[in-house]
Amino acid sequence: MVDIDKYFKPDLKKARKRSQTEAEILSFEMDDRAKKLGIGKKYKIQTYGCQGNEADSETMAGILENMGYVATQDELEADVILLNTCAIRENAENRIWGELGRLKPLKRRNPDLLLGLCGCMAQEEKVVNRILEKYDQVDLVFGTHNLHKLQEYILFAYFNKERVIEVYSEEGNIVENLPKSRFNGYKAFVNIMFGCDEFCTYCIVPYTRGKERSRAKEDIIKEVTDLYNEGYQEVTLLGQNVNAYGKDRNNGEYTLGDLLVELDKVGIPRIRFTTSHPHDLDQKTIDAFKNCKSVMPHLHLPVQSGSNSVLKKMNRHYTKEMYLEVINRLKIAVPDIALTTDIIVGFPTESNEDFLETLDLVKQVDFEGAYTFIFSKRAGTPAAKFEDNIPEEEKKNRLQALNKVVNEGYARASKKYADKVVKVLVDGTSKADDNTLAGYSEHNKLVNFKGDKSLIGKIVDVKITETRTWFLIGEACE
Ligand code: 5AD
Ligand code: SF4
Repeated sequence: MVDIDKYFKPDLKKARKRSQTEAEILSFEMDDRAKKLGIGKKYKIQTYGCQGNEADSETMAGILENMGYVATQDELEADVILLNTCAIRENAENRIWGELGRLKPLKRRNPDLLLGLCGCMAQEEKVVNRILEKYDQVDLVFGTHNLHKLQEYILFAYFNKERVIEVYSEEGNIVENLPKSRFNGYKAFVNIMFGCDEFCTYCIVPYTRGKERSRAKEDIIKEVTDLYNEGYQEVTLLGQNVNAYGKDRNNGEYTLGDLLVELDKVGIPRIRFTTSHPHDLDQKTIDAFKNCKSVMPHLHLPVQSGSNSVLKKMNRHYTKEMYLEVINRLKIAVPDIALTTDIIVGFPTESNEDFLETLDLVKQVDFEGAYTFIFSKRAGTPAAKFEDNIPEEEKKNRLQALNKVVNEGYARASKKYADKVVKVLVDGTSKADDNTLAGYSEHNKLVNFKGDKSLIGKIVDVKITETRTWFLIGEACE
């Protein structure tokens, strides 16, 4: 029988609390005892979910490399395997349970292997209980608020030969000076804020990521300047709700729009930001699209539904009309702005009329793309208690009907770029063909063209010669 009380487990009720105090800023320091622990050993991090998790994995990789560990893609030679998990929908979690089962035999091959679970799933009570009861192959469980303590957890697990379970549910702080091992040499993620205070009724994120807390602008500007000096071409500013940037500091006067204006002066060619909330998107941010050369003309603006009654039950703080008004202001500022969105169908009580409102909104905005989901019940969120009155079959039909309209939007958007010259930041070669380069345009369209590998990491003018629904094909301009 495991002694469950010695572990520090998550608490969803505690995770819901929000206080008015400003988040504390801590500075990361490497523990001397941990510095040599990983020499001669290898690590593998498997990342699931959003770009926030990607950024966290880069931090964990940075910590491990400071300990002497070297990255590997081969799980058979790894001494530490970390699953950085996503809790947003049930199927994301099911994948992880399967993966933990699949990885179990590796522990028999290598008894010293440390298997860890971190990220959003680790913040859930029911997940940690299930691990304690049934998954003794897991040695480390730690949450999103304390990943900077990874070195301590590894030290403890090695020397005490005991599993470590430590998950905080407090609102969270900000840790600066974290080491980072970036996975890409010319595109970088930069966290500008953490957490979310929106509490959309379906969403687990405010519980797993804590309260909204913004990094100091000086720290962000320094990070972007350093990236620029290292030759990076693009930064994506990250937060669960980037439009709330600055609200928790300096009386909320300095917002994302102000930050974009200052970052534009750094000189980095491309700035993107995600994720936005329509209710917090202010005119200063909209103006930044128009006035800042480096702010790319693409905005991902999740709408979730086109029905006012559903939006209200989702606690989204806007109506269909308000969303369309924001879109209108964006299109006035930047007529060719590319807009993408997230939509949930089958939210409890969504009627067919509600769903038709969503289809209507999608057509009116003319999105260039959308991520579409069927509502997934997340334990601990208000919507988990709403009566789920829509048959599964009906939810699937709605998703299919929505995807049809969304895909028409994708195809129409692609056609807009026919015969145009677009600037492409070259990511690498296309999966299908080594002589074909692939990258993203300013409007975030995937573009393939023939060219030399020396162009990888550069911004190239490409004339679009063919358009497909999901990507564009072109030729490099001389
Ligand atoms: N069920 C389905 N989709 C969800 N999302 C967030 N929570 C849920 C849920 N419980 C979607 C939203 C969000 C995106 C990241 O995931 O559309 O914008
Ligand atoms: Fe979740 Fe809503 Fe916060 Fe986005 S804004 S992370 S959907 S609660």
